[in-house]
Amino acid sequence: MNDLLPARLKTKLPPHTFDLLTKAAGLASERRWQVYLVAGYIRDCLLDLPVRDIDITIVGDALQVAEEMADLAHAELETFGQFGTATLKIAGDLDIDLVTARKESYPQPGALPVVEAGDIYHDLARRDFSINAMAVELTPTGLGQLLDPHDGIGDVQSTSIRVLHDRSFRDDPTRIFRAVKFARRLGFAIEKQTLELILQAVRDGSLYTVSMDRITRELLLILEEPHADAMLWDLDRFGVLGAIHPLLAWPYEPGKIRPGPDELLKPQERQDTYLAVMGAETGTDPDEAEKLARWLNLPAPYVKMMRDSARLAGLWSKLGENAQSNWQTYNLLRGLDLRTLQAYARIEALQADSVAWRRLMHYINTLRHVKPELKGDHLESLGAKPGPLYRDVLEELLEAKIEGRLPTRADEERFVRERLAERE
Ligand code: CTP
Repeated sequence: MNDLLPARLKTKLPPHTFDLLTKAAGLASERRWQVYLVAGYIRDCLLDLPVRDIDITIVGDALQVAEEMADLAHAELETFGQFGTATLKIAGDLDIDLVTARKESYPQPGALPVVEAGDIYHDLARRDFSINAMAVELTPTGLGQLLDPHDGIGDVQSTSIRVLHDRSFRDDPTRIFRAVKFARRLGFAIEKQTLELILQAVRDGSLYTVSMDRITRELLLILEEPHADAMLWDLDRFGVLGAIHPLLAWPYEPGKIRPGPDELLKPQERQDTYLAVMGAETGTDPDEAEKLARWLNLPAPYVKMMRDSARLAGLWSKLGENAQSNWQTYNLLRGLDLRTLQAYARIEALQADSVAWRRLMHYINTLRHVKPELKGDHLESLGAKPGPLYRDVLEELLEAKIEGRLPTRADEERFVRERLAERE
């Protein structure tokens, strides 16, 4: 398998990116520094998957190499001096993350690690799983040489997610989410001992040692993934969701609740739909859903989404009742967050419940756009004064319009005149 690697390393990158990397590695080697491609890039090359980002480790000074690369490529550079890392943004290409090789130690479980300079082997040893702990040298003397001290190749071949040491999840419990994510994304299994360590870490309360922001970040990343339903199922089975919050749950076997065909969905659309389902899963009490969203420190639009998805779950059976007018549908759904409604509409399982689903679609596509031509100032010109009567007539006008009884502006004017005359 590693015989294929050198060719793939090149073909997975645009030629100018490969040239840029080897040129920068050449400059670095003049200072006796070494440059390596590491982590996900190597993993995805071995599996012949599309590459998602480029991680570079430098035994030397990553910030200086990053600056030289930015000059060579006329690219934008973001540096994070305190972490010794930088991201090179080349227009239209994958981002390149650069980091100085380091050794990490965890002063206490779940805390951010203490970092000191290290060699490439230290840098690989600090990583989460063997399949993410391989490197390929780019410096001219060792160009193309694979370093695989933790038998990542073996685990790629046996399709296993395996941690490098027993403290891994205690040191960094966010790796629990990552284990589940890589396993389902790649169709791998979590190796037996690694799974034991996950369950042990959850039992020991390791998740409480990490900030909610870090947990939520991992959770949101999972919701963007094509197999998020299976990942959520695993997190639920392993007790992770319940440990985050008792109302956070995913009781659906993989394949049961999915947001439409993967190839047609954007990551954001997937994320919205899974969040909406999780909001609905809290029960039908919007306050509880909101509390959960706030517990997770979700941004305001997501809080609204979880709240409104619980509301929508509460009125779903009503939405499916027989003989409902458009106006009744409109009143059930008006004021609910549009993004939530769209997220709900994507849930394949609800499409079987086709009366409610068709009404939801009708609201999204048509009813919510219906607006009478006459506005408040027209009413004034027809003799109505702002106040309760004025509001009532506008509401009746909207109802008649939504029910399709007022196709033209002249119909609307007649309708308003009649209503005003009735109320005099
Ligand atoms: N890493 C780690 N522990 C973490 C996060 C990251 O050891 N909690 C290491 C892994 O070696 C990982 C690398 O940092 O491969 C880069 O992290 P990230 O970009 O999140 O992962 P990728 O492997 O690139 O995954 P993706 O394909 O999702 O981008």
